[in-house]
Amino acid sequence: MAPRSLPFEAVWASFKTEPATAIFLLGFAVVFGFLFVYPSHKHIENNKVYDLGGYPLLSAWLFFAKRYDFMRGTFKRTGQNMFRFRVLQHHVVAISGEEGRKVFFSEKSFNPEEGYKILGGPAPRPRDINISSVEESNGPFIRHVLNLFRKDRMMDIIPHLMEDINRRMDDWGKNGEMNPFKEMHALVFQMTVRMGTCPELANNEQATNRLSELFLLHEQAASPISLMLPWLPGFSSKKAAATKALFDFLSPYVDLRRRSSVQSSDSIDMLIADGYDDPTVIAYTLGIIFAGVINTGMSVCWTIVHLADNPEWKEKVTLEVKSLLLNHGSSSDLIHRRFSIVPLNVWEEQMPVLDAVIKEIIRLTVSGAALRRNIGGDILIAQKTIRGGDFLAYSLGDTHFDDQIYSEPLSFNPARFLQGREDKNGVSFPFLGWGAGRHPCAGMRAAKLEIKVAIALFLSKFEYELVDASGKYPKSLPQPDRNDIQNAKPLGEECYLKFGRVENVG
Ligand code: HEM
Repeated sequence: MAPRSLPFEAVWASFKTEPATAIFLLGFAVVFGFLFVYPSHKHIENNKVYDLGGYPLLSAWLFFAKRYDFMRGTFKRTGQNMFRFRVLQHHVVAISGEEGRKVFFSEKSFNPEEGYKILGGPAPRPRDINISSVEESNGPFIRHVLNLFRKDRMMDIIPHLMEDINRRMDDWGKNGEMNPFKEMHALVFQMTVRMGTCPELANNEQATNRLSELFLLHEQAASPISLMLPWLPGFSSKKAAATKALFDFLSPYVDLRRRSSVQSSDSIDMLIADGYDDPTVIAYTLGIIFAGVINTGMSVCWTIVHLADNPEWKEKVTLEVKSLLLNHGSSSDLIHRRFSIVPLNVWEEQMPVLDAVIKEIIRLTVSGAALRRNIGGDILIAQKTIRGGDFLAYSLGDTHFDDQIYSEPLSFNPARFLQGREDKNGVSFPFLGWGAGRHPCAGMRAAKLEIKVAIALFLSKFEYELVDASGKYPKSLPQPDRNDIQNAKPLGEECYLKFGRVENVG
């Protein structure tokens, strides 16, 4: 029996007239769905993907709320390299191991747009507020992102990024304590707004902070329940209201830029010049901020945390950063102005230590799952059939914590990524942190630059140490919550940075 046959229409109708009855009906429907719909049975046949069986509501819940634990735990428990489960009416195949990874990231029929559309995270989407004019295909969006992050444009934006983050760091004062998952994250949000919107917004700190709050409200509204049961009244309307607030917030800025007599090369102006209508300009702008903030924000925060715990690496990165300063500007110039004149190619090619640290941080913390849908016919992977229409998920942690690829995979050891030391043993796609195969990250250049400028300026302006809520060094190094794919915040207690300004830097 399919969920469509449950009495949802009655629930919908009665919500308007009799809320109490409706709640009863809804409760009944949920329990019914939980207990009786799709109580499929486990089975293993040689050419079939292992079917988890069980109840679609439970697997959907685990998939949306505890994705990392669910996938890793199930592979461990079953000893399989693939398993099938249901997210409501959709069939999802989780894949593990090298053979599956090779096909997952290379197969043309495995389509990310379709995968993320249904199973993806809580990105603000135009169709949540009934805007259907926006192109659903990712192609034009990705072309815009690649164009936006061209070398010449990034070169021009570096001084603006440095001014932005310097101003925000100065607001912290000369010394104190702060939560890096809030304050460092705010720096990344500011830089993303600078690169992905227009100066009228990026120059306005209050407005930028308000936009950040609206994203947070959207993230809270897009709870696992709203993703699992998008038709459920209350949850879906909250998400729609949060999406609408984001659209309404950006709309005047698009209008302002459309009416301007001078066209700039900023993102919103580029989209207008390319002939996009307002909903598309807003949708793409929200897309850039959403894609831009999540992984970049968590990477900056965790870099700072790990460097605090590893003085040897902190020292190496600090020396590399100081050598940039020694070669650019004079010691009488403000530090952030000296960084502003460091050419892009120096940031990109002459920071091997920080490059290795960033790669190691991404390996350790970015642990979501890549998603696809098979939009072609049946495909064999390791003699098992992936059916046309199946959804697919590959957890990045499957590769990044594989001790056959990375020795002591849970330890922080950037040396494994230093040039000439990378030992891939001929493994296919050993690092997935920037995507792999057909769909590499379109924002990698911008993300790396943002992380580097934030770390460079922070280490040059401040001394710091990691502390817990009581102001003492934490008993153990905080660990990221790998199920928190939006923020990878520390599990358990919050951690803080005790910082003080450094007056003399080389
Ligand atoms: C540390 C920061 C970042 C990390 C670790 C990261 C990681 C990734 C990964 C792993 C993928 C592949 C997903 C898949 O195969 O399903 C991806 C794709 C993508 N990323 Fe990033 N990303 C980062 C920053 C950014 C930024 C700043 C943007 C800018 C808007 C961005 C835009 C995109 C886009 C548009 C795609 C889709 C590419 C495609 O489908 O062809 N990313 N990213």
